[in-house]
Amino acid sequence: MKGVVLAGGTGSRLYPLTKITNKHLLPVFDRPMIYYPIESLVEAGIEDIMIVTGGESAGDFLRLLGNGNQFGLKDLNYTYQEKAGGIAEALGLAEHFVGEDKVVVFLGDNIIEGSIRKAVENFQRQKSGAKILLKEVDTPESYGVPEIAGDKIVRIEEKPLHPKSPFAVIGIYMYDSRVFDIIRTLTPSSRGELEITDVNNAYIEAQEMSYEILEGWWADAGESIEALLRANNLVAQKKALGRQAR
Ligand code: DAU
Repeated sequence: MKGVVLAGGTGSRLYPLTKITNKHLLPVFDRPMIYYPIESLVEAGIEDIMIVTGGESAGDFLRLLGNGNQFGLKDLNYTYQEKAGGIAEALGLAEHFVGEDKVVVFLGDNIIEGSIRKAVENFQRQKSGAKILLKEVDTPESYGVPEIAGDKIVRIEEKPLHPKSPFAVIGIYMYDSRVFDIIRTLTPSSRGELEITDVNNAYIEAQEMSYEILEGWWADAGESIEALLRANNLVAQKKALGRQAR
C-alpha cells in the first residue's frame, strides 16, 4: 500500500499567513502541519510515501522533511504540481509512484486524534474499489457531504447549500489503481478544479465504495483561521492528556 500526502493548493483561506509560505508548513501546536498526516500514515503501517506540493515554497518541504528519517522512514518521494488544479489533479501526479498498488491519500491539512490503521487493514482486504471515512460535524456545508440510504452512500455533494446528512467526507481516501483512469475522465468543476468528490462519485456509481466512521476528533486545519486555531487547541489537549497519562 502506498501513501500520498497532498500539500499543494494556494491556502487562500488562511491569507495572510500563507502569503509567503505554504499552508502545510504553518505550525499546529509544536510541529508543522504536514507532520501530522505523515505520522498518521506511518502509524498505519504505510512507509512508501509521496508528497505532492507546489508553489514557491516547494523547496522548503525537502529542507524540512528530507528523507523522512524523523518519521522512521528510509526515504520520501516528492512531486510538483504546477498549478492548483484540484485535489484529483494533484493525486493524478502520483500515478507512476502508485503503479498497480493501492493508495491511501491524505490531505495535508487534515489532522486526526486517533488511528486509521484498522480502516487501512480493512481496505487491504477489500478486493477492489475505494473506501472513504466520514465524521459527523456541525457544519457539513463546508465539506463533501454524503447522502446515505440504508447503509449505502448513494452520492456525495461538494459543499452543498442543503446538506443531505450531518457527515463530512474527511480528507483521507483509499483507492485501487483504477483511480488514475477515473481522474483522466474528469472535467474541471465550476471552481476550475478536478474534484475528488467526482472521483468518489464514480466509485459509488460503480458500487465499489465502502465507508467507515472515523473515531476521535478530526480537524481540517486549512478550512479557516478558526479551524486552524481549533486544530492547535485539539493537538495541545491531546498532548497534555498524553503527558498526564505517563
Ligand atoms: O478536508 C476535507 C475536505 O477536503 C472534503 O470534505 C472535501 O470534499 C474536499 O473537496 C476538500 O475540500 P477543501 O475545500 O477543504 O479542499 P482544499 O482546497 O482545502 O484542499 C485540501 C488539500 O488538498 C490541501 O491541504 C491542499 C491539497 N491540494 C488542494 C488543491 C486545490 C493540492 O495539493 N492541490 C490542489 O490543487
